[in-house]
Amino acid sequence: MYRKVNIAELLAATTREPMETVASAIKSADAAKFAEAYGRLTATCNACHQATDRGFVVIQAPKISPFPDQDLRPLKP
Ligand code: HEC
Repeated sequence: MYRKVNIAELLAATTREPMETVASAIKSADAAKFAEAYGRLTATCNACHQATDRGFVVIQAPKISPFPDQDLRPLKP
């Protein structure tokens, strides 16, 4: 419980489906499906933060690599 919000219940209800879609996109190596699913998951995170009066917690896709000294692009596209 966070204040009057049952976070555990709400998390399961809102993020399970988008999480599963992200996982299945990874398994099938489908970049377009991953981008769509990741965007939807991120929107779900932010929707709950707004609904719980924590709209200042804004999640976004990473804009920089955590490994700035490595070029991680595949050698063959
Ligand atoms: C069920 C509602 C809910 C969902 C869904 C949710 N959050 Fe949150 N999140 C919260 C609440 C409430 C807080 C504020 C907790 C506090 O103020 O102590 C929070 C805080 C955070 C914080 C801030 C932690 C800090 O104090 O710096 C991060 C990071 C975060 N959430 C990430 C995520 C991500 C990533 C997702 C989606 C994968 C997500 N959240 C989905 C309710 C949710």
